Amino acid sequence: MDVITVTDLAKTYRTPFRRRRVDALKGVSFTVARGEVFGFLGPNGAGKTTTIRCLMGLCAISGGKAEILGAPVPSRAARQRMGFLPEQPYFYDYLTVSELLDLGGRLAGMGAADRRARADKLIVRVGLDHARGLALKKFSKGMLQRAGLALALINDPELVVLDEPMSGLDPIGRKEVRDLILEERDAGKTVFFSSHILSDVESLCDRVAICVGGKIKDIGRPRDLVDATTTETEVRLALADDADAAAVAALTARGTRARRTAGELLLTVGGGVDVDAVLAAAHAAGGKVIAVTPRHETLEDLFLRRVADQGAREVLR
Ligand SMILES: Nc1ncnc2c1ncn2[C@@H]1O[C@H](COP(=O)(O)OP(=O)(O)OP(=O)(O)O)[C@@H](O)[C@H]1O
Ligand SMILES: [Mg+2]
Repeated sequence: MDVITVTDLAKTYRTPFRRRRVDALKGVSFTVARGEVFGFLGPNGAGKTTTIRCLMGLCAISGGKAEILGAPVPSRAARQRMGFLPEQPYFYDYLTVSELLDLGGRLAGMGAADRRARADKLIVRVGLDHARGLALKKFSKGMLQRAGLALALINDPELVVLDEPMSGLDPIGRKEVRDLILEERDAGKTVFFSSHILSDVESLCDRVAICVGGKIKDIGRPRDLVDATTTETEVRLALADDADAAAVAALTARGTRARRTAGELLLTVGGGVDVDAVLAAAHAAGGKVIAVTPRHETLEDLFLRRVADQGAREVLR
């Protein structure tokens, strides 16, 4: 069953005094199935936050439609079964994280004992145990992000929607968020999040959508989206600094790039080149193979290609 259904969603912002229109979403369609981790990718200004704001009922939809948990948005019933982390969470400065979570639980209609138990667990889970007594105004950016994540999870939601959950976090914090998302998935929950940190997304998501200029450019499983053919192969060799110059020249001529550092040569050869012949030339030059690494397109390569396509089109317009 689909937890999120977005059909031809359009959003036009009108700037003050209706002088200018901004077509932020130009017909966005996708679905998210129950139990999926879905990554919503796109460069700055692509329309990620706008899509999420439409889904949360925080702004009026200009065209198309969206449903969450079987109800058209905005729906109060659906809202109670989901958790949400906004892009720039804003909290009451004088509350502590325990008080913030208690307030969130109260708004979600949870009983006092339930709220306390759940908040206690979440504070530990997001790594804020040491900051229980501290007012939120004394929190760092990363700490606020963690408090926001805990708040999104207070009502044990079926669907979690996170706008840039890794933003402002250090590498340890990002790993913790990745683990948290996977824990939610393992508990049968659905997670929809936006990001432009592609390495985080590639390993985490069942499916991703790439949104550029208010349109979806690609959608699917990360490994189905990228071109699996080997684009090039890196050959790393141990090679003495006084190796025979003619043999080394014959070897490097087989590659597209060669970088020689103390005692090593890194040779990049094109996808169609016979790697065995390169290795034979390497032996002839007195080199010893350290590693042979085929390179495939990554999600980041695809992402950059899509953004470049769009950039080229905008220049032509
Ligand atoms: N309130 C608003 N009024 C007018 N235009 C807006 C408003 N909010 C967003 N926009 C415009 O809509 C487009 C999409 O913005 P959005 O915030 O959805 O992008 P995003 O993908 O979330 O980007 P980022 O990665 O920077 O968070 C941008 O061109 C932005 O300038
Ligand atoms: Mg955004």
